[in-house]
Amino acid sequence: MTKLERIAILTSGGDAPGMNAAIRAATLVARAAGVEVLGIERGYRGLLDDAFIPLGPTEVGSILREGGTMLGSARCKEFHDRAVRDRARAVLRARGVGGLVVIGGNGSLTGAQALVDPDEAGPEPVRVVGIPASIDNDLGLTGLSIGVDTAMNTIVEACDKIADTATAHDRTFIIEVMGRDCGYLAMTSAIAAGADLALFPEAGRDEATVVDSIVDTVLAVRQRQRRSRRVIIIKAEGVAIPIDRLKAMVDARLAERVPGSDPSVIETRVTVLGHVVRGGRPSAFDRLLGSRLANVAVRGLLAGATLKMAAWMPPVDLPDEIATRSPADPYCWLVDLGAVLAETENLLRGRSPLARWRAGAFDDIEDALLL
Ligand code: F6P
Repeated sequence: MTKLERIAILTSGGDAPGMNAAIRAATLVARAAGVEVLGIERGYRGLLDDAFIPLGPTEVGSILREGGTMLGSARCKEFHDRAVRDRARAVLRARGVGGLVVIGGNGSLTGAQALVDPDEAGPEPVRVVGIPASIDNDLGLTGLSIGVDTAMNTIVEACDKIADTATAHDRTFIIEVMGRDCGYLAMTSAIAAGADLALFPEAGRDEATVVDSIVDTVLAVRQRQRRSRRVIIIKAEGVAIPIDRLKAMVDARLAERVPGSDPSVIETRVTVLGHVVRGGRPSAFDRLLGSRLANVAVRGLLAGATLKMAAWMPPVDLPDEIATRSPADPYCWLVDLGAVLAETENLLRGRSPLARWRAGAFDDIEDALLL
């Protein structure tokens, strides 16, 4: 095994609060081991532009508390192209980089895998270890990705505020949250915010069923004798009905089912939280998660690991050839990158037991809420 003298770190795809904590810890752990560290600006795009900066204790000293990523991020569709990856490998070689830490989500880790694919990278390719970072929590084989906790807190805080005005007016709000094709943020923040209904793509409901489920929820809540009859519904962006269209369909159905009602009360209001969910200072947990995953990733890389991802408590039992516990942290594992990407695909297509469990658990929760 070649001893690494220089590693590089990049952040790629949608930024996630806590990426800076991972950059900081990765830099400090590598430097403590006598390894030089370079940061690559703007993800794979910056790699192609040879945009490297030195990283050391001074550069990363004050970044822990900041949202976003000090290195910048980008999406780089061209990386699907073999010739573009050849260029990236040439840049890394010219810079003398022996190990690469890729901090990002599904697309970024797919890029990392392709970069060191033995069929194209030749003998002794750069070693690569990924760190899961995406507010969507759509990566397989890690209980959590960096950024999810902060995003969930942001959503819950927003829902609490909306609930105040919804309660005052007995109104129904549909709140759309990010998550791309994954409903995790919608599901978990619905529980944490005490919402009345969560709409997420894994449930596989068609448009008519989604509308019915909202209308049924509103009518059930409005029949209660409680003082407040406000309704909070959290919709994942992956439920592919444009929110204005959904509002129009629900309002029309409510007007039919409750004839003569006051439209200012019965009509729904909508809020799209959008990129607000991705910003802000990382929570204490995301700072800790970023730091712990980076510690394990860099120690693994220096010990010879490649094509791995540092994972936080994988949610299933995994065989030894796919997952190894890190001696550096009892809650962090090094898992096979290929297995991560395969399980991510299963998760997003609803084929994994975890995806089925998530959707099933929500059916039970909904039944309990409608009592
Ligand atoms: O993957 C993170 C994410 O924030 C998704 O939740 C969202 O669908 C997407 O990125 C938005 O991407 P962009 O910032 O490029 O519009």
